[in-house]
Amino acid sequence: MTIHIETERLILRPMQPRDAEAHMEMMGDANTAAFLSPTKKPQARMDLWRQYASYLGHWQIRGFGFMSVDEKETGEWVGRVGPWMPEGWPGIECGWGIKSEHWGKGYAPEAAIGAIKWTFDKFPELSRIISVIEPTNANSQAVARKIGEEKSGEIFEFWDYKLDIWAAERNVWLEKFG
Ligand SMILES: CC(C)(COP(=O)(O)OP(=O)(O)OC[C@H]1O[C@@H](n2cnc3c(N)ncnc32)[C@H](O)[C@@H]1OP(=O)(O)O)[C@@H](O)C(=O)NCCC(=O)NCCS
Repeated sequence: MTIHIETERLILRPMQPRDAEAHMEMMGDANTAAFLSPTKKPQARMDLWRQYASYLGHWQIRGFGFMSVDEKETGEWVGRVGPWMPEGWPGIECGWGIKSEHWGKGYAPEAAIGAIKWTFDKFPELSRIISVIEPTNANSQAVARKIGEEKSGEIFEFWDYKLDIWAAERNVWLEKFG
C-alpha cells in the first residue's frame, strides 16, 4: 500500500532509507536535540544512524511509523511527523520534529493533523492519540494545543525525563479536524 498524505503545503510519506542523511542532519542540530536526545545534546553520527535505522524498523514491525515531511513547493525534506509506539510506550503517539530553519511556519501542526487523520482511519478502535512532551518544551506544547491535545495529567518517565502525556480523544478530535 502506498501511503501519501497531502496537506496544503506539505507531503507526508513513510520514511525511506534515502532520508537518513537529512534526518541525521536535523537531529545533529542543538536546538532540535535539546528535547529529543537522552543527553539533551546532539548525539554522535553513529548513534543517530542507529536511531534512524530503528525508525525504519518501526515501520517493518508495526506497519506504521514516522513520516518524512516534504515541502510541496521546493521538494525539500523539512522534518518528520507521525504516529509511533515503540516498546513500552504509553500509547500511539503523534511525534514531531522540524528542521530549525523552518520553525514558526506552522509545519508541525499542519503535518500532525494530516498524520493523525491517517492514524485514526487506520486504527478504528483507537480511542485517543497522545504526545509525550517535556514540561519545558514550549514549542511542542504550542503544537499540541494547536492540534487539539490537552495535558492529561499523566506522567511518563523515559531516559531522565518526566514527560507530560498530552492527549486528544478520538471523537472530539474528529469532530474538529476530521
Ligand atoms: C516543536 C516543533 C516541532 C514545532 O514545529 P513548528 O513547525 O515550528 O511549529 P509551529 O510553527 O506551530 O511553532 C510552534 C511554536 O514554536 C515557537 N517558535 C516558532 N518559531 C520559532 C523560532 N524560529 N524559534 C524558536 N521558537 C519558535 C512558537 O512558540 C510557536 O508557537 P506559536 O505559533 O503559538 O507562537 C519544533 O520546534 C521542533 O522540531 N523542536 C525540536 C524537536 C522537538 O522538541 N520535538 C517535539 C518533542 S515532544
